[in-house]
Amino acid sequence: MTDQTVYTLGIETSCDETAAAVIKNGREILSNVISSQEAIHSRYGGVVPELAGRAHVDVIDQIILQALNEAGLSWQDIDQVAVTEGPGLAGSLLVGLNVAKAIAYALKIPIIGVNHLEGHLTSIYLQEAVEFPYIALSVSGGHTDLYRVERFGSYQLLGRTRDDAAGESFDKVAKMLGLGYPGGPLIEKLAREGNPSAHAFPRAMLDKDSLDFSFSGVKTSVKNFLLNREATGLSDADVAASFQEAVIDTLVKKLLLACRSESISRAVVTGGVAANGALRARTQSVLGKEGIASYFPKPVYCTDNAAMIACAGHFKFLEQPERWDNAFSLDALANLSL
Ligand code: KG4
Ligand code: ZN
Repeated sequence: MTDQTVYTLGIETSCDETAAAVIKNGREILSNVISSQEAIHSRYGGVVPELAGRAHVDVIDQIILQALNEAGLSWQDIDQVAVTEGPGLAGSLLVGLNVAKAIAYALKIPIIGVNHLEGHLTSIYLQEAVEFPYIALSVSGGHTDLYRVERFGSYQLLGRTRDDAAGESFDKVAKMLGLGYPGGPLIEKLAREGNPSAHAFPRAMLDKDSLDFSFSGVKTSVKNFLLNREATGLSDADVAASFQEAVIDTLVKKLLLACRSESISRAVVTGGVAANGALRARTQSVLGKEGIASYFPKPVYCTDNAAMIACAGHFKFLEQPERWDNAFSLDALANLSL
């Protein structure tokens, strides 16, 4: 190990993934371990906060040890710990924060608090250093936000959902179709068998210049449609494909609008929904025609992971090292914004 090498342990427990990763010098992933609680929450059609917190407690130690082992490092090699401080479920965040504090205290190394949303925006750096400024669409189960990213640590919110997040609408429609949780991948799979033009579900706010989104209308529209579906003869796959089409159409058009209004020709799409293959393909084709380059983290870095938290933490530390000298007062910030 040279003096310039910095190893960061990242810990992420904001929702229903217990994750730990070790990265080298901010961008090189040495390990990225993710333990999903899908099996615990799927029968409820959504995350049950109390169960999520308990499940994190059960596995966090072994997930961190696995991340350390897979990286081929020992505790003494770790230079700093980056941990998600919010937003998310308070009981889940506290598990990661407390373990991170214990590690930092025992090893006498800095602990860095990371905003989960910043982690998502940063995840593209694990693959490539996109030139600034760029437009970022962060689209997950909790958020659907458009940002102008000026430089690392400087994010201007351009638009956000006024009600449901796009991922949340995938999850709710999947529940209506009896598919299970999380709904996004299940809807995507089913949609491959269906006709995306079978039914025109509403595209909210596309008539307006606003960069805000709204997804509660499309969800309600699917619900009402399913009540009277028999007369239409449409299959579950048709409904899934048509619903997915409405969401993708809205996301891509708003992303294009943001790029145009900010005169920026680079767009990053990130967050769990960015794992959706149809969204990736449509973004590339629509933005490509306008000369806008689009960038997507690999699906495994789109959904919740600790490598993105370690990456964001690494760069946050470089910006302001003194801020993290003794950050043991870090607390769970369930509603933290960027
Ligand atoms: O970023 P993420 O892992 O966690 C949050 O911070 O919310 O995103 C999870 C969300 C869920 O709503 C899930 O259904 C959605 O991302 N998602 C997808 C896909 N994979 C995950 N949505 C659509 N298509 C996918 N392939
Ligand atoms: Zn997330």
